[in-house]
Amino acid sequence: MLTSCSEKKPKYIIGVSQCSEDIWRNWQNSEMRMEANFHKDVELRFTSALDDSKRQIQQIDDLVEGGINLLIVAPNQLSSVSPAIDRAYDKGIPVIVFERKTDSQKYTAFVSADNYEMGRQMGRYVVTRLQGKGRVMEILGLEGSSPAEERRKGFADALKNTDVEVVATIQGDWTEAKAYQAVKDYKGDFASIDLVFGHNDRSALGARKAFRERMNASALPLFCGIDGLPGENGGIRQVRDSLLDATYIYPTRGDQLLQLALDILNGKPYEKETMLTSALVTPENAEVLFLESDEVMRQAQNLEKLQIQASGYLKQLATQRTITLLALILIALLVLAMVLFYLYHRSKVTARREHVVNTLWNMVIPASEESMPKEGATEASTQDSTPHDDSENDSEPLFIVHFKDVVEARLGDSDLSVDDLAAAMNLSRVQLYRKVKAISGSSPVELLRTARLNRGYQLLLTTGKNISEVAYEVGFTAPSYFTKCFKDEFGVSPSDLQR
Ligand code: FRU
Repeated sequence: MLTSCSEKKPKYIIGVSQCSEDIWRNWQNSEMRMEANFHKDVELRFTSALDDSKRQIQQIDDLVEGGINLLIVAPNQLSSVSPAIDRAYDKGIPVIVFERKTDSQKYTAFVSADNYEMGRQMGRYVVTRLQGKGRVMEILGLEGSSPAEERRKGFADALKNTDVEVVATIQGDWTEAKAYQAVKDYKGDFASIDLVFGHNDRSALGARKAFRERMNASALPLFCGIDGLPGENGGIRQVRDSLLDATYIYPTRGDQLLQLALDILNGKPYEKETMLTSALVTPENAEVLFLESDEVMRQAQNLEKLQIQASGYLKQLATQRTITLLALILIALLVLAMVLFYLYHRSKVTARREHVVNTLWNMVIPASEESMPKEGATEASTQDSTPHDDSENDSEPLFIVHFKDVVEARLGDSDLSVDDLAAAMNLSRVQLYRKVKAISGSSPVELLRTARLNRGYQLLLTTGKNISEVAYEVGFTAPSYFTKCFKDEFGVSPSDLQR
């Protein structure tokens, strides 16, 4: 019962190794968390390498060491993180690589949008936007990370054979701060730039900040990025508000990732390569997309609130269940204690009765008499030597001594009745019966007969008298009845005993 009260261990532990920490990653992580709430037996362990490949290697090794059942990983860079991913894979841990690639084939599934295509689509948009001619500054994502290389290549391919030219490439490393600083340090002519393409929205905004420090808002070039997140600080809104001219939605789909992870863990069929669809966001569709994404977010928030509420109820329920179980355990213990107390009390009463019967027994034949067939007599004689702690018993020995005298004195009298015994004890017949019965558990008649038989037993063994003589001497009127009672009491007939 107590074990069932304790917290249930999750069936699956899923490690999520993120390369960075930013709103895109946070959004994706919260989607995974939300999805995990629908699967009670899943635990998610998140790590973030903060754009540091060495740190990510260590974090992956630690996750594996900690006993995860599956690894979801966005490798910071193409090659440097691969050995750690390979190690996990070689240990039999399924690996889902998402959004950024490794240079190894050791993974179970890969999920991403097409980064090359995104770069190309953005390039085509830029060419149209600049009417086929213009000077572009490109803010690159982290060197060695696959989306940066693919976006750059796609963008370059789209610009081929046009008069749109990339005149400056700046290293932005995916962060707003880096892009801002690098653009600020740019030695070229800011005014000659027609458009800035950031490999993500944050780097485009970092560049915009640096440009803004140099010129009026009206003189600013156009800024394009990638990510197109929903929400107040997302790219869709920034396009709507003309901070960006365009962005490309880079889907997070954390829920889909987690679902895929569970399919793999549960042995269900799954796609090894999944390409997520995405779309360009421009001033023409930004308003509609923002409204739609706002609605989706609102519903997601409601869902989250509901989930928080539900998990609160579940916790409450679990606590109540624990309390109920504890109460049940307590009741069970109480009942057990009562039963034990009852048994103990009963054994004490029985012991007292045995003690009294034995005393009565001894009043006819001493306990030292080895020929006595009753085991209880010997046991009880041991008890006799121990002091009795029950004060209620104090009057009993006196009564028994008296009763013994009376019985012994009249044992041979076959006419001796209970009335006679009661009279001799100065009690009514009913009083005598109750008292003797309460102390010994037997009636006076039964005790008298036992005493007679015991005396008979002794006489048969120690005198040469025959059965009839003995029967009369101990108060039986018919020797045959004595013989029957004797056999019932001792299991042997008087004649067998004599023999
Ligand atoms: C988030 C992010 C996105 C970018 C992607 C590239 O960490 O920097 O902004 O599109 O990673 O992998």
